[in-house]
Amino acid sequence: TGLFTYDSGFLSTASCKSTITFIDGDKGELLYRGYPIEQLAEKCNFLEVAYLLKSGELPNQQQKTEFESIIKNHTMLHDQMTKFFSGFRRDAHPMAVMVGVVGALSAFYHEAMDFSDAAHRNISINRLIAKLPTIVAMAYKYNSGQPFMYPRNDLDYTANFMHMMFGTPCEKYEPNPVLVHALDVIFTLHADHEQNASTSTVRLAGSSGANPFACISAGIACLWGPAHGGANEACLNMLEEIGDVSRVGEYIKRAKDKNDSFKLMGFGHRVYKNFDPRAKLMGKVCADVLGELGLENDRLFKLAKELEKIALEDEYFVEKKLYPNVDFYSGIVQKALGIPTSMFTCIFALARTVGWITQWEEMITDPEYKIGRPRQLYVGAARRDVPAIEQRP
Ligand code: CMC
Repeated sequence: TGLFTYDSGFLSTASCKSTITFIDGDKGELLYRGYPIEQLAEKCNFLEVAYLLKSGELPNQQQKTEFESIIKNHTMLHDQMTKFFSGFRRDAHPMAVMVGVVGALSAFYHEAMDFSDAAHRNISINRLIAKLPTIVAMAYKYNSGQPFMYPRNDLDYTANFMHMMFGTPCEKYEPNPVLVHALDVIFTLHADHEQNASTSTVRLAGSSGANPFACISAGIACLWGPAHGGANEACLNMLEEIGDVSRVGEYIKRAKDKNDSFKLMGFGHRVYKNFDPRAKLMGKVCADVLGELGLENDRLFKLAKELEKIALEDEYFVEKKLYPNVDFYSGIVQKALGIPTSMFTCIFALARTVGWITQWEEMITDPEYKIGRPRQLYVGAARRDVPAIEQRP
């Protein structure tokens, strides 16, 4: 054994110093580079937020225009990469495809291997921000058996993504600006969240000197889990399973039962113990989208509202400080936008890539950075001698 602090689940261990994102879990506050998430969601688009995260400051008009143009220059995926998709089964989960395809970017952009050069780092960061929407949309098109749609650089970042998702070669797709704005806000709400499991995974992978594309692929793999980014998919599946307001009580009861592994998906957070500010904004986006589409009476929306109301009045949830998190309403919005359930976590990954890669760069440019190497408390057998095979029980 060694004299180490035992902190299972890193409840009280700061793994790094960071200047990117601040969370006050008691106040329900989230700041990117000092700016409140509510103001960023209202006044900036996702690419401005991406610029803010990666550079530390919001862009002025000229910087914004330049950045948009750089990102547009990189939206295409190397044509050989399109063949990579066909190696997957059509019914593969799109997150599995994402892990593979994003990791495979390492095989195409060799300068990414030498990231001691700031210009090389910058180009890899821009490539990731530009290509993730194309990869996500291709994963969807492959899965649904439709032809890939190439990016349209006359459209803004999020409108272009919707074109690649929902357009077909048969007819020109004109994205609805209200829905584009809603999805853009969803991206902003997911862009970064300090040292969560996937970001810590990206940092840990990067601390060994692995290239940025491989590190983001590791982050995507971690995000997939239902306790993390997979919760939006799991939450929608849960709402479908509950099916009717009359069954909410039964599921609340199950969530409280110590002997039942069922948890209320989209509820609870390690850091937020008052409310998740992203969930409040997501609730508003949800109402806007459903209003725009005339779906105010959506069955799942009503069910979610009822579930939230009952849970927030229940002693168990109040005592344990369990509130809706960002994933609670995001599935309903995405479903209304026409995004299939299996793609929800890919949307999260698209947006979080900005945060991951910013955190990666902050780490590898930190003079104090070391390879991440946690220790353990060994609780196994004491030293013993290997018995001959006939003496083994
Ligand atoms: N439903 C029922 N009980 C819950 C829930 C829930 N959703 N979340 C936590 N609890 C209970 C938990 O069983 C524990 O009870 P006890 O003290 O009796 O053992 C107590 O509340 C504390 O929870 P914890 O699991 O120790 O807390 P954690 O910080 O380790 O986990 C969490 C946080 C988000 C993983 C967890 O709340 C959870 O699994 N929620 C459901 C999945 C989910 O919505 N995840 C998305 C998180 S936000 C977006 C993201 O990170 O990607």
